[in-house]
Amino acid sequence: MLISPSILAADYANLERDVRAAAHAGADLLHVDVMDGHFVPNISIGAPVVASLRKLDALPLDVHLMIENPSKYVDMFCDAGAAYLTIHLEAPDDKPTADTLRSIRARGVKAGLSIKPKTPVAAVRELLPLCDMLLVMTVEPGFGGQKFIDGSTGRIAEAKSLARALSPDCLIEIDGGVDETNVAVCRDAGADIAVMGSALFRGDVGERMKLMRSVLNK
Ligand code: DX5
Ligand code: ZN
Repeated sequence: MLISPSILAADYANLERDVRAAAHAGADLLHVDVMDGHFVPNISIGAPVVASLRKLDALPLDVHLMIENPSKYVDMFCDAGAAYLTIHLEAPDDKPTADTLRSIRARGVKAGLSIKPKTPVAAVRELLPLCDMLLVMTVEPGFGGQKFIDGSTGRIAEAKSLARALSPDCLIEIDGGVDETNVAVCRDAGADIAVMGSALFRGDVGERMKLMRSVLNK
């Protein structure tokens, strides 16, 4: 299973230190949460920070856009150096989501589609062939440190089986409240990538990564 530490829980005044520590600890990707205060009731960071992180050349950037009108920002975040660029199915936009996913791929970037906990998994059916990743939110997006929503494993399994049938190379990512108590169950349900914020950064990231790997190896 791939691990994508979320810098939302890192120390923004010491981002380089925290990102290098995550890379040194064997992280696979770096999850970057972009929030606009409209699609979610919180504001985080934008493309200039993504571009600075790209310059560190530490980890591939897994950029999660929790913003309205994502189609307007595809070029900006591709230019900034995203390896994966994920948009929300529920985000209002004047362009069809399919076109936005295609435009991400046309830039040579992996296209991700995310669904909030109350969105039926089947809603992504038509779009899955255009996706390199399906992000199944396991909390309501907007804030780190929330509790994993019980019952999410059923949604992960449903997402995996839909992807197997319609888009076999599409990876399933989970995000929100993932920690050492639930990550293995999520992997068994079909998750390929685990995003973890507080579970890794509210402690020594090296030690916390070792714990996750040992839990996953059991
Ligand atoms: C929440 C973000 C998550 C967040 C997860 O809306 O999308 O990426 O950082 O944080 P934890 O792992 O603390 O729940
Ligand atoms: Zn996220």
